[in-house]
Amino acid sequence: MTTARRPRVLLTRRWPEAVERALAERFELTPNLEDKPLSAAQIAAALLEYDAVCPTVTDKVDAAALAPNQPRARILGNFGVGYSHIDVERAKAIGLVVTNTPDVLSDCTADLAMTLMLMVARRAGEGERELREGRWTGWRPTHLIGTKVTGATLGIIGFGRIGQEMAARAHFGFGMPILVYNRSPVDPAILAKTGARQVASIEELLRSSDVVSLHFPGGAANRHLINAERIAMMRPGAFLINTARGEVVDEEALAAALKAGRIGGAGLDVYSAEPQVIPALLDAPNAVLLPHLGSATSATREAMGFRVMDNLVAFFDGKEPPDRVA
Ligand code: DGY
Repeated sequence: MTTARRPRVLLTRRWPEAVERALAERFELTPNLEDKPLSAAQIAAALLEYDAVCPTVTDKVDAAALAPNQPRARILGNFGVGYSHIDVERAKAIGLVVTNTPDVLSDCTADLAMTLMLMVARRAGEGERELREGRWTGWRPTHLIGTKVTGATLGIIGFGRIGQEMAARAHFGFGMPILVYNRSPVDPAILAKTGARQVASIEELLRSSDVVSLHFPGGAANRHLINAERIAMMRPGAFLINTARGEVVDEEALAAALKAGRIGGAGLDVYSAEPQVIPALLDAPNAVLLPHLGSATSATREAMGFRVMDNLVAFFDGKEPPDRVA
């Protein structure tokens, strides 16, 4: 008796153990045991060898990686909600379906944006460095004075699932009035949940907020949406929080504004050339810099992996994958 061959699936990085185990039961699975990112040539070769390739944000799935005109692969199951690292048009042109993992990381990403907001406003990074380096001389009324977050106005750019979770945390936890800029009109019922007000332009939001948090996708269309001119519109002493994608901020312009004390600080989890961070940001004491930890909890990383699996199972069962983006 012959059994049908199981689809061959490649994971480009190590995934949570429980997910790798479940995938191996259902598919002919190749995990990346070394956990090193693949080159474009390796991804291109994988497309000729596997039925599904499952990348992450550390894979540049650009035109070079998508070079094969007739790949064996039929689906890219991205481990992550953001997919600006994938050339979606080229993927479509060579017949690849692309899926992502929405919803399951909204809570943890919003939690991390809150972490950054509190850390930068309360100078927690500076304080920790001072203590660990043995420079703390004790309590005094003028030591490491930060900014009160409770009651300050939070401006959110991009009001999707993560932006909405951020609004809920800030509004109900810290009494923050919420302003929203979103390309399309937001359902008034959604705004009403956090008493949020949608403004007509990014400029209006920047001028009216004490903290600005970015929650819109990366990619060419949004590259440097937050540029020098817009950073100059922020209130003196305001904070910029980015848990979205590095490329949406002009990092050199941000570093210059931080150095000049034009804004109060920045809390960043993402960078345009990860894992490299530009020296000017590393030198800025009023920047809190985290290494892309937005979704990094065991519950969320497992949920992301199982969400990819749901998409692969649906696809290879001949159904529409639930999180198809292309
Ligand atoms: C996401 O899901 O977009 C995270 O930033 C990891 O890629």
